[in-house]
Amino acid sequence: MKVDILTLFPEMVEGVLAESIIGRAQKNGIISIRCTNIRDFSTDKHRRVDDYPYGGGSGMVMQPEPIYNAYRSICGEAGKKPFVVYMSPQGKVLSQQLAKDLSQKRHILILCGHYEGVDERIIEEIVDMEVSIGDYVLTGGEIPAIVLCDAVCRLVPGVLSSEEAFSEESHYNGLLEYPQYTRPPEFMGRTVPEVLLSGHHANITRWRHEQSLKRTQEKRPDLLDKKE
Ligand code: ADE
Repeated sequence: MKVDILTLFPEMVEGVLAESIIGRAQKNGIISIRCTNIRDFSTDKHRRVDDYPYGGGSGMVMQPEPIYNAYRSICGEAGKKPFVVYMSPQGKVLSQQLAKDLSQKRHILILCGHYEGVDERIIEEIVDMEVSIGDYVLTGGEIPAIVLCDAVCRLVPGVLSSEEAFSEESHYNGLLEYPQYTRPPEFMGRTVPEVLLSGHHANITRWRHEQSLKRTQEKRPDLLDKKE
């Protein structure tokens, strides 16, 4: 899978995605993530990428041409149009299912807005889907792009090792994950549940499923409603 990210702050995104599991997957060639600075595609002599909004109002709006030029350059290189996602609080709210759907795409382009957002015409012209990471407003699309990229890339086959496999995790089957324990067997007077030390795999599996249900009921009953 290939991910292109169009941003005014490439260092902000590259640094985070170069670390840990996503960084390792890039080094192994399983995924490729590239950040492109929209400013490099400005045709203005001062490298401007934003301007005042028509009709007045506060803040600046990102102009359509530099974004379009960057998009065309990436399309030309790839030889095919990528699936274009614009990070926006107005978008479809990210879920595990949406991450799964996007992980099937071969090439995604993520557009990060800043200031008061982008000129509406660029959304009409190139964007396939607007995605929000939740009902709150951030200063720009870079952090949302990192979140989306992490959620999607970890589902690409080969990115997670078998130990990191996601099959039993929170939200994978619509339930929260069961509690986990490691050594020591006793910490601050709290002991590890007996069943986990028993070596009885069927009992452990049953206990974990019960714990998942109980937790989901207590912490996120809305997930159970959705499941039914
Ligand atoms: N840009 C600003 N806030 C955002 C959000 N909640 N989700 C996606 N993009 C955003």
